[in-house]
Amino acid sequence: MDKPFWWRERRRDEQRIRRPTARVIVVGNEKGGAGKSTVAALIATAMMYRGSRVAVIDADLRQQSLSRFLSNRRRWLPAAGVEAPVPMEYKLADDTAALAMGDPARAVDCFEEAIGLAMAESDLVVVDTPGADTPVSRSAHLQADLVVTPMNDSFVDFDVLGLIDPLSLELVRPSLYTRVIQEARATRESHGCELDWVVLRNRIVGSDPRNRERLTHGLEALARQADFRIGPSLRERVAYREMFPFGLTIADLSPGVRPADISAPRLAAREELRDLLIGLKLIPRLAPTVGVGDGVAVAPLA
Ligand SMILES: Nc1ncnc2c1ncn2[C@@H]1O[C@H](COP(=O)(O)OP(=O)(O)O)[C@@H](O)[C@H]1O
Ligand SMILES: [Mg+2]
Repeated sequence: MDKPFWWRERRRDEQRIRRPTARVIVVGNEKGGAGKSTVAALIATAMMYRGSRVAVIDADLRQQSLSRFLSNRRRWLPAAGVEAPVPMEYKLADDTAALAMGDPARAVDCFEEAIGLAMAESDLVVVDTPGADTPVSRSAHLQADLVVTPMNDSFVDFDVLGLIDPLSLELVRPSLYTRVIQEARATRESHGCELDWVVLRNRIVGSDPRNRERLTHGLEALARQADFRIGPSLRERVAYREMFPFGLTIADLSPGVRPADISAPRLAAREELRDLLIGLKLIPRLAPTVGVGDGVAVAPLA
């Protein structure tokens, strides 16, 4: 079998540039509305403030939410006279919706070219993926050092990960998306590369302890079987969605960068984001709150 693209590129980079290539984080889940684009934007912005050179690829060719977020950022920052880091974006095509409708092999070629460039130019590549099994999404998962899977606290979301027996509520077997990860992991392992997988619960609300307990039971059983880590959860917070029109996230929030006030719920969201980055092993455990003290358009938040 031919070596997959990521293998060839890494070997080529090793010979050509002689430095480690970028880490690839794929945010994935075959379920739409799970929070993939939100989490991808949070990771990308926060890690720039940590000093990473971040590249972004939006592989959701039809929705392009992350790409839209970034174009909002590129327009809003200069118009507001604010300086903040902007990640490098590698687009698969000018018209990605048309690319999605055409020959799948061509879309995969475009993706492979984009990620090759992104890996050569950055420390961290964040790839957002569609809520469906597509050839481009498969290709992205093959290149992932880390897959981050947000899911809503719901058995409907759980269903794409694992099959639950309706009578006992016990895990029967892994289902669709879990098998995609298992295949990607096996391919990577056969080439000496690991795939770390973290599943995290998103949009947690305070009021459903019974549902949460049952889901936790299923998730823990699946985590043991499918070998993933359960990451820190994100609560349902307006702070995670209100700054999309400006292309900002709570990682950007500061007295210098603000379309929104620095309020207690927004500070709580930043703490949650910091815990997420620690859980993903992207920053050390004792890291200060995201964005504080980095000197890039972010002043201490008191
Ligand atoms: N933790 C959260 N709190 C509040 N709203 C959220 C949260 N996570 C996601 N959302 C919102 O939920 C919707 C779906 O999120 P999105 O990131 O677009 O999911 P996906 O990319 O998986 O389809 C969006 O309207 C987004 O703003
Ligand atoms: Mg999305």
